[in-house]
Amino acid sequence: MLLAIDTSCDETALAILDIKKVLAGEVLSEKLLVSEVVSSQIKLHEPYGGVVPELAAREHFNNLPILFENILSQAKIKKDDISTVAVTRGPGLNGCLLVGLCFAKAFAAMRKLQLLALNHVEGHIFSAELMGKPLQYPALALVVSGGHTMLVFMKSFRRYEIIAKTRDDAAGEAFDKSANLLGLGYPGGAILSQRAALGNALAYKLPVGLAGVNEAFSFSGLKTAVGRLVNSLAQSKENLSEQIINDVAAAVQQAIIKALVDKTVAAMRRVRPRNLILVGGVAANQYLRIWLENEAREQKVEFIVPERRWCTDNASMIASLAARVLLEGQAGISDFYISALPQWSILDI
Ligand code: KG4
Ligand code: ZN
Repeated sequence: MLLAIDTSCDETALAILDIKKVLAGEVLSEKLLVSEVVSSQIKLHEPYGGVVPELAAREHFNNLPILFENILSQAKIKKDDISTVAVTRGPGLNGCLLVGLCFAKAFAAMRKLQLLALNHVEGHIFSAELMGKPLQYPALALVVSGGHTMLVFMKSFRRYEIIAKTRDDAAGEAFDKSANLLGLGYPGGAILSQRAALGNALAYKLPVGLAGVNEAFSFSGLKTAVGRLVNSLAQSKENLSEQIINDVAAAVQQAIIKALVDKTVAAMRRVRPRNLILVGGVAANQYLRIWLENEAREQKVEFIVPERRWCTDNASMIASLAARVLLEGQAGISDFYISALPQWSILDI
C-alpha cells in the first residue's frame, strides 16, 4: 500500500492507494484508492478571513497522527502493509509543509520505506488520472486554485512549459475576494458560484482581465471593479437585495470564467493537445466545467476533469502522481535530508 499525505495549506489530507495493483499493470482509478480523508480547517480560519499559517501548521501537527490512525482503520490495513510514502514538499505554506514532511520522513525512515517528496501543483494535474485513463500527450492543463492560475503545456511526462500564468491574484482568490466584498463569507468561491446560478450575468458589466492577451491572466482589476460596484450599489440602496447580490455574483463569475476559457481556447488552438485537463479548486465550478467541456468537444480534444472532491486540496492526487512517478521509473533515491520548498515551480521538478 502507498500512503499519501498533503498538508500544504489548510486541509490535512491522507490517502491509501493499492500501489501493488498499479505496478502490476492495473490502470489507476477510484477502485484502487483504498481510503481517503480530508480534514478541513475552514472553521478555524474563518474569523480571520484567510488562512493563518501558524495556526494551520499547529492544527496539522495535532490532527495528522489521529487522521493517520483513522485512515488505517478505515482502510482495514496495518502500518506494516505500507511500503511507500508520498508527501507534498511544496509549493505551499512552509510551516504546514514541514509538518507533513516530518511525519512522512519519520515514518518512512523508521520502517525503511521508499519516500517520494512531490510537487503539489503537479499533484493537482495528476488528479486527472484518478478518472481512470492515463493522460495522453501532448496535453494542456488549466490549473486553477486559490494559490495558482496557470496554463501548462505537457509535451510528455515532466516536460512542462507554462504557457500563461497570473500576474497578480489567482482565479480562486478572485472568487474569494469578490465573495467577501459581497458579504458571502469565507472562503466564498463555492458560495459565490451557487448565488451566480440564480443571477443574471448581463445585469452588470465587469472587466475581463487582459482580454486579448494570451500569455497572462490578471484578476486584480476585477477585484477593484467589484469593490467599486458594491460600494455604489450600497450607497444607492440601503441594503443590497438578494437579487442584486445574485446578479453581481453572476457577473463576477462570468468575468473570471471568460478570462480562463478564452485563453485556454486560444492555447488549445495553438498547441493542439490530445487531452485538455481542468484541475484545482476552481475546477469544482460547474459553469467552468461545462463551458470548457463544450469548447474541447468543438475542437475534438478529449476533456478530463476530476470529481469535485479531487479538485480542492486532497491527498488522492498525490497518490495518483506517486503512482505515475513509480510507473515512469522516476522515483529516484529517498533522501531523508530534504526540506520543504514553499515556492517550488513545476519547471524545477
Ligand atoms: O485547490 P484548492 O483547494 O487550494 C489551493 O491549492 O489553493 O483551491 C481552493 C480555491 C478557493 O479559492 C475556493 O474558493 C475555490 O478553490 N473554489 C471555487 C469553487 N469551489 C472551490 N471557486 C469557484 N467555484 C467553485 N465552485
Ligand atoms: Zn491546491
